[in-house]
Amino acid sequence: MRTISLGVVWLCLGLSLDALSLNGQRRETVDGEKTGTAIRGEKLLKRVRRGWMWNQFFLQEEYTGSDYQYIGKLQSDQDNGSGLVKYVLSGEGAGTLFVLDENNGDLHATRRLDREEKAFYILKATVVNKRTGQKLEPETEFTVKLHDINDNEPQFSREVYIGSVPERSDIGTSVIQVTATDADDSMYGNSAKLVYSISQGHPYFSVDPNTGVIQTALGPDDMDREQREHYQVVIEAKDMAGQRGGLTGSTTINITLTDVNDNPPRFTQSIYQFRVPESSVSGTPVGRILATDRDIGMNAEMYFTIVSGDGMDMFDISTDKDTQEGVITVSKPLDFEKKPSYTVEIQVQNTQVDPRFMSAGSKDMATVRIGVEDVDEPPLFDKASYLMEVKEDAAVGVAVGSVSAMDPDAARSMVKYSIDRRTDMDRLFNIHSGNGSVFLLRSLDREETAWHNISVIATEFSNSHVPVYIRLLDINDNAPTFATTYETYVCERTKAGQRIQTVSAVDADEPSMGHKFFFSLAPEGTHRSNFTVRDNGDNTAGILTRRASYSRLHQSIYLVPVVITDGDYPMQSSTGTLTVRVCTCDREGNMELCNAEALSSSPGLSTGALIAILLCAIILLSNRLISSSHFIFEKKAKIL
Ligand SMILES: *[C@@H]1O[C@H](CO)[C@@H](O)[C@H](O)[C@H]1NC(C)=O
Ligand SMILES: *[C@@H]1O[C@H](CO)[C@@H](O)[C@H](O)[C@H]1NC(C)=O
Ligand SMILES: *[C@@H]1O[C@H](CO)[C@@H](O)[C@H](O)[C@H]1NC(C)=O
Ligand SMILES: *[C@@H]1O[C@H](CO)[C@@H](O)[C@H](O)[C@H]1NC(C)=O
Ligand SMILES: *[C@@H]1O[C@H](CO)[C@@H](O)[C@H](O)[C@H]1NC(C)=O
Repeated sequence: MRTISLGVVWLCLGLSLDALSLNGQRRETVDGEKTGTAIRGEKLLKRVRRGWMWNQFFLQEEYTGSDYQYIGKLQSDQDNGSGLVKYVLSGEGAGTLFVLDENNGDLHATRRLDREEKAFYILKATVVNKRTGQKLEPETEFTVKLHDINDNEPQFSREVYIGSVPERSDIGTSVIQVTATDADDSMYGNSAKLVYSISQGHPYFSVDPNTGVIQTALGPDDMDREQREHYQVVIEAKDMAGQRGGLTGSTTINITLTDVNDNPPRFTQSIYQFRVPESSVSGTPVGRILATDRDIGMNAEMYFTIVSGDGMDMFDISTDKDTQEGVITVSKPLDFEKKPSYTVEIQVQNTQVDPRFMSAGSKDMATVRIGVEDVDEPPLFDKASYLMEVKEDAAVGVAVGSVSAMDPDAARSMVKYSIDRRTDMDRLFNIHSGNGSVFLLRSLDREETAWHNISVIATEFSNSHVPVYIRLLDINDNAPTFATTYETYVCERTKAGQRIQTVSAVDADEPSMGHKFFFSLAPEGTHRSNFTVRDNGDNTAGILTRRASYSRLHQSIYLVPVVITDGDYPMQSSTGTLTVRVCTCDREGNMELCNAEALSSSPGLSTGALIAILLCAIILLSNRLISSSHFIFEKKAKIL
């Protein structure tokens, strides 16, 4: 049986709705005449004769009956009921989804159709002569449109949304917008008209029923991240404008409150105690103090400052960027003996503050007590080095000087002294281990070693060393002597008062005012003396002839004894002997010939000196005129 209840709805295209009821079917007619065949309701046909006038059928989607669903009837003017015409269908789904009774033009759908799958189908129909197969009318196009029913529930684009909003936001702050879609026909009925509501997340959040925008629903005081950070909100979208019977879809929104700086840092203790050895150098960490901040990230970053206390200048504080701890370090040298403990007041505050929450108190204070620990420090000499002076002739056992060292520690331990033997290998000095007096162990000689630089050790629990420079003071214990061995000559024909040699002296002593030498003829030489000594007053003296003539043959060599005296106390003197040979000279006074035998026989004249004299003679001779070269050789031969 043709189902009537679901019947075909024929809609008049565009114009007057002329609905009639026929066998329980509602039909609507469409105005507008077409030629020839008409598709129309059976009864209507009897009222108005028209050609193909229907070009739209409507069909309810999701038909659940077991039979074919009746769509409507095609009718042609050419069909006078004689059974001679045949209806023919073509187009989308013709013969499969849609079947047409070829005898009476009844159109059926063969199965359930879904509007959301395909909302309309375009078909064509015509009538042909059953016998001849001749087309009685031109093909006419028509559509079958599916009528929506609310068979789709609203769908959110995501199952879970993630949203966030700063904590302590004002009421009504938007968090996120969620939107659902409904596959049903939004142009027809309320099947796709959605209304949003919140089913979980009260009373913190609300949703705008029309837009799906989620907002905070409580004021700043109730939206505190430090109280509760995560919220799960469930939003429902209901179609049929939210009316009873509508379909619903839902989604979950995970909302996180993000941090704002609404909490100041707080010290975990009000008093901290640390100890630090007095020997700690600048920069040594003393201790770490921790302040906590209930905020996170940048809002929990803090810095510490020392604001007061007697240790303000002695210590520094910085922030460990990884742990946010305050690290106290030594800034200046500490001395337990001077000050054994310090107190500092430390303030902590956030690096960035939110002016909205300043009133809550953005700083915290703590007291830090730092005890300085005594460290056993080595003895301290009262000088960086000592200079001592001792006369070189000082007697063994004499005190040269003394050093002094003290234990800087509170214990003031006894200090013991000793000499670093590596610096006094010859054991010239000794030290009194109790009072630091340095004594002489052996006799000294300044002319041998003028300085003894030794190292003294002061021992307590730990050692200290100090250099001691011992300078030997000069004693005039050396006599002056000729600076060299003097040998000279005198010409046989000379003049009285002729200077034949200048002499000078040396002395190993080192008088503070410098040397002052005196020269004179020794007493044994003054009787019938042939030479005189003239002190030049400048530490030199001239040796002068006393006669005008000397004879090589008579006496070829004279020894002139000269007394040299220094001006120091005790006075030292010695006698130096000057050797003078008698030689024949040329007119200029140049030595020409000396007595070889006399020279060789002369005591105290070294071979080297003899050779020197000979060489000298040769040089002098060779300087003579070439004409006398013959003579030179003769003389030379004689000397040799
Ligand atoms: C119907 O039409 C056919 C041919 O068009 C004709 O032969 C027949 O007589 C008609 N019948 C009626 C009842 O008019
Ligand atoms: C949402 O929150 C729930 C409960 O807190 C959690 O189990 C889930 O993993 C979250 N989902 C996402 C996508 O973050
Ligand atoms: C140290 O002691 C020695 C021996 O008792 C004494 O001769 C010396 O003068 C003392 N030195 C000092 C600086 O007191
Ligand atoms: C010892 O010290 C003195 C003073 O510092 C210095 O002039 C001298 O050269 C030193 N002598 C030695 C042998 O080191
Ligand atoms: C000085 O010369 C004479 C004559 O040659 C000599 O006899 C005398 O001893 C000399 N005097 C001395 C001090 O050598």
